Amino acid sequence: MASSLTKGSPAPEKTSPAGGKTLLGHPIGLAPLFLTEMWERFSYYGMRALLVVYLIAGGPDAKPGSQGGGLHMPETSALAIYSVYVAMVYLLTMPGGWIGDRVWGPRKTVAIAAGVIMVGHLVLAIPGQASFFAGLAIVAVGSGLLKANISTMVGHLYDGPQDPRRDGGFTIFYIGINLGSFFSPLVIGTIGQKFNWHLGFAIAAAGMGLGLICFLFGTRWMSPQSSVVPTPLTVAERNTWLKKGLIWLAIAAVFYGAIVASGQWNLKWALYPITIAGLIIPVTVLLRIKRDKDLSDTEQTKVSGYIWFFVAAAVFWMIFDQAGSTMSTFAEKQTSDTLFGLSFPSTWFQSVNPAWVMALAPVIASVWMALSRRNREPSTTVKFAMAMFFIGASFAIFVVPMLMTQDGGKASPMWLLSIYMIQTIGELCLSPVGLSVTTKLAPQKYASQMLGVWFLAVTAGDCFTGLLSLNDVKLNSPVMVGIEAVMAVVAGIAVWVYRKRIVALMGDVR
Ligand code: PHE
Repeated sequence: MASSLTKGSPAPEKTSPAGGKTLLGHPIGLAPLFLTEMWERFSYYGMRALLVVYLIAGGPDAKPGSQGGGLHMPETSALAIYSVYVAMVYLLTMPGGWIGDRVWGPRKTVAIAAGVIMVGHLVLAIPGQASFFAGLAIVAVGSGLLKANISTMVGHLYDGPQDPRRDGGFTIFYIGINLGSFFSPLVIGTIGQKFNWHLGFAIAAAGMGLGLICFLFGTRWMSPQSSVVPTPLTVAERNTWLKKGLIWLAIAAVFYGAIVASGQWNLKWALYPITIAGLIIPVTVLLRIKRDKDLSDTEQTKVSGYIWFFVAAAVFWMIFDQAGSTMSTFAEKQTSDTLFGLSFPSTWFQSVNPAWVMALAPVIASVWMALSRRNREPSTTVKFAMAMFFIGASFAIFVVPMLMTQDGGKASPMWLLSIYMIQTIGELCLSPVGLSVTTKLAPQKYASQMLGVWFLAVTAGDCFTGLLSLNDVKLNSPVMVGIEAVMAVVAGIAVWVYRKRIVALMGDVR
């Protein structure tokens, strides 16, 4: 997808490494992958749209008159659970990529992942707190297994990184992501929020089921390379992993067994360690890569350059991912649910970002193209600085309707629509070039793991907000939103001011 938003796709060739059949100039295997990811995102974002509203439903912080039957949680707990869940999904893309590389191969991993996600949503469809947490964990594991491997499979359809259709292929794939993300809150959100939460979750499961069927039907068109395990785990390695896994499992079982037995157990015992792990793991992974003795000097310098992008991205995702938490509770409780005389459920706001992505991606792409014709296309560093500015500006604006509704009034939906628009412009400045710069700055040794490293920036950002919520900091207060806006703008200014230094670290990468 990377430079797909910056370049046009040249005339397609009529061949494909995956069997030769093409559709609209692209290998036909792109169709089932497109549909699988579309349905996966449909289930993911549909459930995510319901998540916080469901957690607080029936409790002290629920909107008066809204559907009960939720988990009655206070808002800070709901926001903490949301952050931890989303962080886990992206943290697990690393082991997911590893399993694709070393155990099952991408194709088998995606098929299993889709099944796991479907089961997770079905478990969520069973009422009750235990099934809720079990379902959430299962969905996170499945999504982690799927996300990196399906992108790898899209890459396999093309003749290596030089294939002129590759960027176009990733753009089409990104449309699939956003189509699924757009429709799901409208369907799952409406049914869950207006009729029955669990029916909403069941529809998410059905969506993933359809995705799995598309995937299984389409396997004949996928690249044979997708079934290969590139670097299989040796028996000795497998035994070491099993041993390590069992030891950790035993330690956790004893530790939590003792806590439960002593009557001390509450949710924080689970959320704190996960959140802290979600902050420590990204730092450790980056430091380990940077300190690896096998890297050449240039590779090491490039990793130092990458750390700048990584930290900026973490701050970006920290704000961006609050779409389904802070912004979702604001939509539910402090925003009017009618626009031009039409009334709608608050979960529909979750469709706004993907709608803006589809509307604005071609606009941004043509702006970059027009600028590049004049040799003035901003560099990756400048695009990152712009993204930070936009995401900061979005939260600075968000402070206004928050202050306006503090006495119980309702803000116009236009506020959220505009805030999402500004965030999406930021996303389109950062997300595509971020993926691209990640792969370009990756040391050879870590090439296949770098996609997972990029997603760790999302984990770090989400765990930061998770930790705040766990400490009872009210994320949905104007003060916090204002502080985060300042953080993002300061990070943007830092990237801008030090852009020459970052560019020097990047070597030949632009
Ligand atoms: N919305 C896109 C997706 O779900 C991009 C994105 C990735 C957004 C990761 C946030 C975090 O794939």
